[in-house]
Amino acid sequence: MKVWDGFVRLTHWAVAGIVLWNLFGPTDSTHRVLGYVAAGLVVARIVWGFVGSRHARFSAWWPTRSHLVDYLRSLARARPIHHVSHNPLGGLMALLLWFLILALALSGWIMRLDAFWGEDWPQEIHAWLAIAVEVCVCVHVAAAVLMSVWTRENLVRAMVTGNKKAP
Ligand code: HEM
Ligand code: HEM
Repeated sequence: MKVWDGFVRLTHWAVAGIVLWNLFGPTDSTHRVLGYVAAGLVVARIVWGFVGSRHARFSAWWPTRSHLVDYLRSLARARPIHHVSHNPLGGLMALLLWFLILALALSGWIMRLDAFWGEDWPQEIHAWLAIAVEVCVCVHVAAAVLMSVWTRENLVRAMVTGNKKAP
């Protein structure tokens, strides 16, 4: 069945590529332009969470407290609840990654304002946010691979093709 529409897949892989480039590439003008492009894609994806296709919408995967508790319990019982869209932990991670990318763009912008010339803290915040995003991406990729193996549903392929097995 179709789960991830083209817009979700396009924004995911474009944002992922930009984040990896900006983490490990040179901090030149391309870095700055790409950083803003990533932030723009995240904003567009958030809008898509209200108007997009069924499984892309926040209403399909917003990680409420009770969904999180149920999901964590099911993990503890070694029988993870099946979710067609993001599971609650995956949803939480998506929100965290989006927040970090927007905060990186904001701190990158502040860093270059004349008003903060000679100040170190915007740079320090930007560098710490970059470390946070690096750690989160590692956890995110490990979780996607691990859950794919555990639940025998290839989540990474689903993010490429858009399709998942019908439950
Ligand atoms: C490097 C930076 C990356 C970032 C910032 C990132 C961020 C995200 C975000 C925000 C989502 C939610 C997508 C949405 O609802 O639109 C997501 C989903 C997903 N990402 Fe990534 N991602 C990254 C890299 C990767 C990589 C390298 C892989 C492959 C190993 C991957 C695999 C996935 C999968 C499988 C999902 C869907 C999970 C599910 O089925 O619930 N991501 N990612
Ligand atoms: C996806 C978003 C972004 C990521 C992942 C990212 C990541 C990074 C990283 C890892 C560094 C090196 C930090 C260090 O160790 O000093 C850096 C530096 C820098 N970033 Fe970004 N960045 C992003 C967006 C932006 C944006 C939007 C701007 C500005 C418009 C920007 C401007 C800069 C500048 C000027 C530096 C050099 C700072 C210095 O001189 O120490 N970045 N960024």
